Amino acid sequence: MSREEKLVSDPISSTRMVGRVLVVESDNPPVNALGHAVRKGLHDAAKAAESPDVDAVVIACKGRTFHAGADIREFGKPPQAPGLGEVIDAFEALQKPVVAAIHGTALGGGLEVALGCDYRVAAPSAKIGLPEVKLGLLPGAGGTQRLPRLIGAVAALGPIVTGEPIPAKKAKEMGAIDEIIEGDLVEGAVAFARKLVADKAPLRPLSKMDAPKTDMAAFDEAAAKLLRRSRGLKAPSVNAQAVKNAVTLPFAEGMKKEREYFLDLVSGEESKAQRHAFFAEREAAKVPGVTKDVKARPINKMAVLGAGTMGGGITMSFASAGIPVTIIDLNPEALDRGMKIIEKNYRATQARGGLTEAQVDKALANITPSSNFDDVADADMVIEAVFENMDLKKKIFKDLDAKCKPGCVLASNTSTLDVDEIAAVTSRPQDVLGMHFFSPANVMRLLEIVRGDKTAPDVLKTAMEVGKKGGKVPVVVGVCYGFVGNRMLHARGAQVRKLLLEGASPVEVDGALTKFGMAMGPLQMSDMAGLDVGWRIRQETGAKDPVGDALHEMGRHGQKTKAGYYLYEEGSRTPIPDPEVDALIAKVAKEQGIKRREIDEKEVFERLMFSMINEAAKILDEGIALRPSDIDVIYLYGYGFPMGKGGPMFYADSVTPAYIADRLNIYADNTGDEELRPCPYLARLAEQGTTFAADAAAGSKAA
Ligand code: 3HC
Ligand code: NAI
Repeated sequence: MSREEKLVSDPISSTRMVGRVLVVESDNPPVNALGHAVRKGLHDAAKAAESPDVDAVVIACKGRTFHAGADIREFGKPPQAPGLGEVIDAFEALQKPVVAAIHGTALGGGLEVALGCDYRVAAPSAKIGLPEVKLGLLPGAGGTQRLPRLIGAVAALGPIVTGEPIPAKKAKEMGAIDEIIEGDLVEGAVAFARKLVADKAPLRPLSKMDAPKTDMAAFDEAAAKLLRRSRGLKAPSVNAQAVKNAVTLPFAEGMKKEREYFLDLVSGEESKAQRHAFFAEREAAKVPGVTKDVKARPINKMAVLGAGTMGGGITMSFASAGIPVTIIDLNPEALDRGMKIIEKNYRATQARGGLTEAQVDKALANITPSSNFDDVADADMVIEAVFENMDLKKKIFKDLDAKCKPGCVLASNTSTLDVDEIAAVTSRPQDVLGMHFFSPANVMRLLEIVRGDKTAPDVLKTAMEVGKKGGKVPVVVGVCYGFVGNRMLHARGAQVRKLLLEGASPVEVDGALTKFGMAMGPLQMSDMAGLDVGWRIRQETGAKDPVGDALHEMGRHGQKTKAGYYLYEEGSRTPIPDPEVDALIAKVAKEQGIKRREIDEKEVFERLMFSMINEAAKILDEGIALRPSDIDVIYLYGYGFPMGKGGPMFYADSVTPAYIADRLNIYADNTGDEELRPCPYLARLAEQGTTFAADAAAGSKAA
């Protein structure tokens, strides 16, 4: 480099001349979010770049990533100039080449900065994307207008409507990245910029260009296909419309619309809920006692015990993430069946285009089937997923204690059993914890990590890190029956059974929740899981469900027998209401002396939802969940709670604990069901007129 000179330098932004190329670098850890100070630094740099001594500009970032977006924490606060649009316009207006040098993730506003540049170069591992839709928003600084102009409206639709990131190599194929730079990125970007100057390469201000010619029929078809997966959320369709504007309207008008849409979405309830979910997920990673200096144990090899429904899915999650897994089932037939299902699932994903053949082959090569228990010996972590039986689990953990190497993490996927009791049979309870996956475990992202009395902090950290590597969202919970998610579901289940007998139909029960946006109603869920599962549990626990028992005895085991609470046509999962079931419920109610009545939709919904929230309040009070937002993460990622509602506790706060307590008292009085009575913690929040979130922030959880 001929001449390198520092021009501006503050902790967040710096500029330096490398020869006649101005290099602008931001340094705003952790993700170079485009907060006010960063925008100001960039804006000043754009002004400095006007100097005749500057031939070209490179925009880059220090630290782990290029700008990963606007600073989400600033949303909802009064805007501070310069706005991001102003910054981007200032660079785009320069009459000299501007090059974005991207590493890490150029997301949202970050990619929009790069789209305001004439050219984009990237490190091979970089990704670009416009994930605003996942926050209930749309790109608000020209992304919806510039990306379609760069790569075409149909190609831009997917990334904008789904928010999924694009790896650098693919982005280059699509024309969003001009060059991949191996080695030092900024040096490479400067060399690239110099060549542009030498070649007198054209400037490419996207705002002055038209989008490539678009087949509108193909566009509408692609948009309709993407929107089918948007589950009633508003942002995806608004994003699609904005992209369409990029081809149907002049740039300035498209930008005006984009702004209008952004302001509408950012102030709406859905976006608030989705932003809450974003931070809730990150908050869940913060666990008392698991400080930054606690080091996770390395997991280079895993063993999974049990090749059934859960063992297979768990194995897939980690094999796909590149961890060698030995899957052990003492029953060779079960092992063989389990392996066949694993392979079938992988190939189905491949057929749908979710994985390439090479990726599937690689994942399968990471899996070693075995019927020999001794193969746990070289594992760094064992996840047990055998039948739900305490004696069996105790025996297995005793054997694991004898066979596993020191330091091996011993996890149980139990959904109900006491992890402390399991840990107590070993000589190393500090290495034992629960890792509660959700079915299908290769798909569902929630992972409840059950912290035992004696679980060591580094063991907890190891489980969280490895879970994240396996694509999961880990949430730490305490020991109790059903942990957090299923315990709340049990409370709701009691209301489901009562509502049916008191007068609601299966369609009314499920409809109350699906109308709210839940992926499925409780009875549809029972039919999917199989009514024999619940029946078997009731045989062991003595729990009562006369309707469920009667259906089971009639051979109606749910979807698999084409009849349960509903009927199902061959090969279909669509529930069809069955008058025979209505008659059966009426008969059972009569036998029990229950006088049935019309129950309005509001009561059905509130008893189902508020009973869960009441249980959640007990869970918080007992310290089983660390904070209300953790419960939101659990329901959003494990139970199909609608993203746009932010989770049960965010929803509870939006209607207020006072309202919920009031309604629960009314229902308890009217039905005589004391289980509906607000628990002391909920009652206290109601009395104080506060919310779960505010109370947690004030740090006073206990009643
Ligand atoms: N604003 C504010 N804070 C952010 C942020 C953002 N855009 N992105 C990440 N952070 C914070 C996180 O909250 C977290 O904070 P914490 O340590 O206090 O919990 C920290 O940065 C690190 O984030 P992660 O734990 O998520 O780090 P990862 O390495 O796992 O992931 C990432 C990095 C892929 C960049 C991920 O953080 C991410 O996806 N961020 C959001 C990206 C995004 O949505 N950008 C669009 C924003 S909206 C926008 O740009 C509007 C524009 O169009 C006008
Ligand atoms: P499953 O019945 O499908 O599979 C259990 C497997 O364990 C069988 O293949 C069996 O051969 C094998 N097995 C039994 N004893 C063994 C031993 N000593 N060593 C090795 N393998 C042995 O059961 P599923 O549904 O996979 O459940 C497993 C565990 O996961 C249970 O604890 C369950 O509570 C829990 N769980 C289940 C969920 C579900 O939706 N099915 C969800 C979350 C947790």
